[in-house]
Amino acid sequence: MANNQGYRESFCNGKRCVSVASLFSIIFLLLFAESTFFIDWVDHTKTTSACLLKTISIFNNPNPQPQSPLICTNGNSTATCPTYYPSKFEPDDSSTTSCPEYFRWIHEDLKPWESTGITRDMLERGKNISNYRLVIIDGIAYVENYAKSYQTRDMFTTWGILQLLRLYPGKIPDLEIMFQGGDVTVVEKRMFQDISPPPVFHYCGEKNSFDIVFPDWTFWGWAELSIRPWEKTIHNIQEGNKLIKWKDRLPYAFWKGNPTVANIRKDLCKCNVSDQHDWNARIYNIQWQKEKARKFQNTKLEDQCTYRYKIYVEGHAWSVSEKYIIACDSMAMLIEPRYYDFFTRSMVPLKHYWPISAKNMCEEIKFAVDWGNANVEKAEALGKRGSDYMVENLKMKFVYDYMFHLLTQYAKLMRFKPTIPKEAVEICYENMACPINGIIKSLLIESMVNSSSGTPPCTMPPPYKPEALKELLQEKENLIKQVKTRVMSNN
Ligand SMILES: *[C@@H]1O[C@H](CO)[C@@H](O)[C@H](O)[C@H]1NC(C)=O
Ligand SMILES: *[C@@H]1O[C@H](CO)[C@@H](O)[C@H](O)[C@H]1NC(C)=O
Ligand SMILES: *[C@@H]1O[C@H](CO)[C@@H](O)[C@H](O)[C@H]1NC(C)=O
Ligand SMILES: *[C@@H]1O[C@H](CO)[C@@H](O)[C@H](O)[C@H]1NC(C)=O
Repeated sequence: MANNQGYRESFCNGKRCVSVASLFSIIFLLLFAESTFFIDWVDHTKTTSACLLKTISIFNNPNPQPQSPLICTNGNSTATCPTYYPSKFEPDDSSTTSCPEYFRWIHEDLKPWESTGITRDMLERGKNISNYRLVIIDGIAYVENYAKSYQTRDMFTTWGILQLLRLYPGKIPDLEIMFQGGDVTVVEKRMFQDISPPPVFHYCGEKNSFDIVFPDWTFWGWAELSIRPWEKTIHNIQEGNKLIKWKDRLPYAFWKGNPTVANIRKDLCKCNVSDQHDWNARIYNIQWQKEKARKFQNTKLEDQCTYRYKIYVEGHAWSVSEKYIIACDSMAMLIEPRYYDFFTRSMVPLKHYWPISAKNMCEEIKFAVDWGNANVEKAEALGKRGSDYMVENLKMKFVYDYMFHLLTQYAKLMRFKPTIPKEAVEICYENMACPINGIIKSLLIESMVNSSSGTPPCTMPPPYKPEALKELLQEKENLIKQVKTRVMSNN
């Protein structure tokens, strides 16, 4: 999406410049290693202090415990973090659930450090390819900034961390992590063949890089594009889905976004209907500045589920649009993604989406639409399974659980004691949310966790056995090949 100058910037540190533009295809307008030991909640309980937890000690109370609301002292823009009070968290252990399958990829993402652990040296090596360092000590979060992130990504991401601390008070281990907030992966495997790679957290990963995948900022909101927190957005999309039945939707493949951010998007535009041909694709260009002037009235995600088929195509790297597109109940067509985010690696071609190859995309789109229009029940069911994947596996509780397990596993690998860097500042609800106004503030408040969790995090699945993983990937490839060669088994 965002692709005009106004929405583009680059940050440079040292010799490297990372071009950062938002990848959003708006179309809509747009997953391991706890290994076998499960966390012992009770023994782990320590005194937590967290900014803003003016709490209320939660003894023997299995229910969600309300947490104090955001209190901003009137007119004071230099809000300071309040003193905090210990809080104890005793979730009801009897109500554990299993984590979704994609959590198994946490084990894979941390594998590069499995035998060595993570040393301070390794961590510091990631400094020049990170936007900031996040430190958590005794439940309090600190940030040391190195390079400004694009738009308000960093703010919404660290806000998400504060919510996690609030949901599971006292349960998040002390740690230091490096965070990259751009689009493109930064820890290239080929650069770290003789030396351990730095562990760098990032919104997406790719097979040739070691970036550790973490939920992107849009789960808490995307202020610049007026996109509300995921929980609200998915609710609205689902309401929108009820308004127009699959069979009554336009029988074409739809994409709307900013084509200028990536060549593959420009290629997609060539598949648009014209006097010469009709590949069954309907492609629309978005200019975000214009949409902004119209207050985003034409780019509401919930109004974009009017086609039977929806196309997902990457921008500079992964695009946050993917979850919105797939949640539409339309059959999603994914144009050969190169990048993945935390939840996508367990999605199965022809079960949750229809794979389209980058090379032959116009013909493949046409083939897929023709197939769907000739097999409406199957196409509709495919679309629905994709949506169900999003609804069931991406409940906000699971997003937090993913963060929880990833950070917990990471902390177990740390071979050094976290410390607060001199330049770091404490972050808390007050100093983040009080000094600001407008849409940013309303999104922060809307995505606030208002009580601790009544239940513990879901139970981590074990790592994949290497052979099983290989098989899984092979199966996926076979399915994709079936579509490419158009010899589809009769499913
Ligand atoms: C980051 O620093 C390391 C030395 O610690 C250096 O080898 C590497 O080239 C630097 N990377 C960038 C992108 O500047
Ligand atoms: C904001 O709060 C600080 C600390 O309490 C105080 O020193 C300052 O005068 C306040 N500023 C305003 C504008 O109220
Ligand atoms: C695709 O074709 C439609 C119908 O002609 C047109 O309205 C639309 O602007 C075209 N999209 C692009 C990106 O050119
Ligand atoms: C927390 O409360 C605020 C209002 O005080 C509300 O806007 C927000 O949506 C609530 N958070 C959640 C996750 O429901």
